[in-house]
Amino acid sequence: MSFPDHRPRRLRRTESIRRLVRETTLSKSNLIYPLFVAPGQGVRKEISSLVGQYHLSVDQIVIEAEAVAKLGIPGVILFGLPEKKDRVGSESWHEHGVIQNAIRAIKQKVPELCVSVDACFCEYTTHGHCGVIIEKRKGQPEVDNDSTLENLGRLAVSYAQAGADIVAPSGMMDGTIGYLREALDEAEFEDVALMAYAAKYASAYYGPFREAVDSAPSFGDRRGYQMDPANIREAIREVGLDVEEGADIVMVKPALAYLDVISEVRREFDTPVAAYNVSGEYAMLKAAAERGWIDYERTMMETLISIRRAGADMILTYHAKEAAALL
Ligand code: PBG
Ligand code: ZN
Repeated sequence: MSFPDHRPRRLRRTESIRRLVRETTLSKSNLIYPLFVAPGQGVRKEISSLVGQYHLSVDQIVIEAEAVAKLGIPGVILFGLPEKKDRVGSESWHEHGVIQNAIRAIKQKVPELCVSVDACFCEYTTHGHCGVIIEKRKGQPEVDNDSTLENLGRLAVSYAQAGADIVAPSGMMDGTIGYLREALDEAEFEDVALMAYAAKYASAYYGPFREAVDSAPSFGDRRGYQMDPANIREAIREVGLDVEEGADIVMVKPALAYLDVISEVRREFDTPVAAYNVSGEYAMLKAAAERGWIDYERTMMETLISIRRAGADMILTYHAKEAAALL
């Protein structure tokens, strides 16, 4: 049967019909808002590569967290800017580091907000890589997997002690989730969840973020640990390992160029799936809108619904506040 028996336009005639046949929804409940915590007091400095996003000191983070909660967004994810970098990024696990202070402050003022923390070292290391650098093969520096895990263990426990609800290791070291689950359980934080950056690609879309936190590698690149954009079967293997190791949520990152990966992960696993709508994806819309080339609000909502349609339960996005205001 086909035309004229079938006229699909009948179901597109009015907004009420369109609402009834709508297959996918986007709600405030699907959003996680990234926040950048900076040292100091009274700091609220716009990030030049991320229009509309700010470096916020702990006092300002609390104000921002209250605004986020008020908008009906259930969670934030924190990224930290250290006072001083070193070779291993030791400031990251300091009891009074910016992140630890921010977690405590948010939990005191806005206890209902779900606080996730990105757990990685690239913002904290002088070389900008996501772990401990060693020279295994003559003169060839590389990120050492297993010593990085030890530091990640310290980091995760320190975030849990400060009161984080979810720890999200983003360094793509092998065995991270299993190692951290054990470290957290041993420290009696068995109720702290792990969100795995499970399929994280070596992507050029992280450019604006690296400028925002000054984490671009000073030599080489991240292709020795982040995934090759050409691979999807490997993504399923990576996610499978993290699920086996105890991940509570698995993430695909970036989102837009990897909607097929999100969709495949959704089909293969029943674990909640997160997608990270990254800095470069946000910056592209902002830049095009600034030039008057696109309608910002409509492209933003279309982008977010596409990530939901692909199968993501939750979306980490710099658009969260703007989207929530429209929902
Ligand atoms: C740290 C980290 C990165 C992002 C989140 N956590 C950058 C990277 O891996 O280089 C990117 C986020 C974004 O681009 O919005 N490992
Ligand atoms: Zn990193």
